[in-house]
Amino acid sequence: MKKNKKTPFFRQQNIENLYFVSDNSHLNGETSIPGDKSISQRALIIALISTGTTKIENVLLSEDVLHTKKAVQTLGANLKKQKDNLIELEGIGLGNLLSPKQPIYMGNSGTGTRLLIGLVAGSNAIVTFYGDDSLSNRPMDRIVLPLKRMGAKFICNNGFKLPITVKGALASGFTLPINYKMPVPSAQIKSSIMFAALTGRGKTTIVERIETRNNTETMFANCGIKVESKKNKKEKKINIGGVSYINAKDVIVPGDPSSAAFIVVAAIITKQSNVVVKGVFYNKFRLKIFEILKKMGANINIIKAKNKHYCDIHAKYSKLKNIRINSSFNTALIDEFPILSIAAATASGKMVMTNLEELRYKESDRLNAIFKGLSKCGVVVASQNNDLIIEGNDNILGGCNIDAKQDHRIAMSFNILSLISEEPIFVDGNNSIKTSFPNFFELLSNLGVKIGYKNAL
Ligand code: S3P
Repeated sequence: MKKNKKTPFFRQQNIENLYFVSDNSHLNGETSIPGDKSISQRALIIALISTGTTKIENVLLSEDVLHTKKAVQTLGANLKKQKDNLIELEGIGLGNLLSPKQPIYMGNSGTGTRLLIGLVAGSNAIVTFYGDDSLSNRPMDRIVLPLKRMGAKFICNNGFKLPITVKGALASGFTLPINYKMPVPSAQIKSSIMFAALTGRGKTTIVERIETRNNTETMFANCGIKVESKKNKKEKKINIGGVSYINAKDVIVPGDPSSAAFIVVAAIITKQSNVVVKGVFYNKFRLKIFEILKKMGANINIIKAKNKHYCDIHAKYSKLKNIRINSSFNTALIDEFPILSIAAATASGKMVMTNLEELRYKESDRLNAIFKGLSKCGVVVASQNNDLIIEGNDNILGGCNIDAKQDHRIAMSFNILSLISEEPIFVDGNNSIKTSFPNFFELLSNLGVKIGYKNAL
C-alpha cells in the first residue's frame, strides 16, 4: 500500500475552487482522519467548568470547534497552550461563568450552541448567542422549552431561533431538576439539559425512547460526575444530579467516524480502491453506517484496536446493492444519510429510507438537499412526505452545480459523487467543509484522487 505524501499546495488553495476529477483514479493507502467533532466540543466545554487544567489531545481544529473554543474563552476559560492539535485549557470551575458584554458568535455550530446554551441556563450568567444564516434557521425550541422549566430565562427573536439571550437559572434563583421525556431523539437536546442539570437542586431525569450517542454521559463520568443510565425494552432513563465541582480530566480525541464515512464511501464506489482509515472512534452509536454499507455488499472490515475505544476501517471497491433501511436506525445514521445516499445512487436496485423528518433540521434541510442534488445529477429519486427512494445507477451524469446551502455534509457528499460521474459535479459552498473536516481535499488527494480547479476550465 502507498504511504501518504504531503501536498502543501492545497493549503494555499481556496477550497471553494476545488472539485474531484473522475478519471478512473482510485484511492489507495492508509490515512488517519481528524478528531471527533462531538467529543472535541464537549471536551472544551467541560474544561471550562472544571477545576484545574485540561489537556485535550488530537482535538479537531475545524471552524465549529474553533467557535466553541473561542466561546469558552469568552466565558472565562484560560488558554494555557495550543500547539498543533493539542489544547490546554484552565477552567474556572462550575458556577463561575462570565457574562460577556458582547454576543458570542457560534458560526455554523449547532452542537456548540445547544450545549453552551444548556450550560449557561444552569449558571448565573447572561449570554447572547448568534450564528450564521444556517444556524439562525435551526430550531431552538427543543432546548429552550426544557431549559425554561429548569428556571432559565430566554429572549428569542423570531420563533425560538438565534440570536438568543439566556439568563441562567442561578441569576434569579436556583436550577430546578426536571423529568424530561425527549420529544425527538437528539444527543444535543439531552446534552444541553445535562449541562444545565450540573447545578440542579436534585436529580434531573431524561427519558429517551430511542437511544442517542452517549458522549456526554461518558465524558461526565470520566470527570467523576455521577450519571446513572437505566434501560429497559421501552426506554432509557438518564439520571444526573447537581455537583459542587468537576475535576479536570485530560482527553484524547479519537478520529471522527462521520468523517471516516466519506473516505470509506469514496473507496467503495471507485474501482480498484483499497484504503485503511486508522484510529476511528469505536462506538456503537457511530458505526451504524458501516454496518449498513456492509449489508449493501461493501467490502468493509472493522478491526478493533488494542485500545477498545479505537478501530481501523478497511474498505475496498465493492458492487453495492440497495436495501430498505429500518427507520429505527435513523438516529444512529443521522449524520450519514447524505453520504449513504451517494452510495445508494451508485448501487443496484432501490434504496428506501423512511421517516427522515429530523434531516430537515440539520445544517440544511438535508432531505430536500439530497433529493434536489441527486435529481440534478441525473439520478432517479423520489421523495414523499419524509421518505426518500433512490434508484441506483452505474452511470451518473453529473455535469451540474450543487448548492451546499452552508452544509458541510452535503458539500462533501456531492464532491464524492463527482469521483464517478460522467461530467464533474461542482459544489457551491465547499467552504462549509471547514466546519468539520478542514483537510478533506488534501486527505483524498493524498490517497490518490485527482483534484481539479473550477476556474481552470
Ligand atoms: C451531535 C448530535 C447529533 C448530530 C450532530 C452532533 C452531538 O445531533 O447530528 O452532528 O454532538 O451531540 P442531534 O442529536 O440533535 O440529532
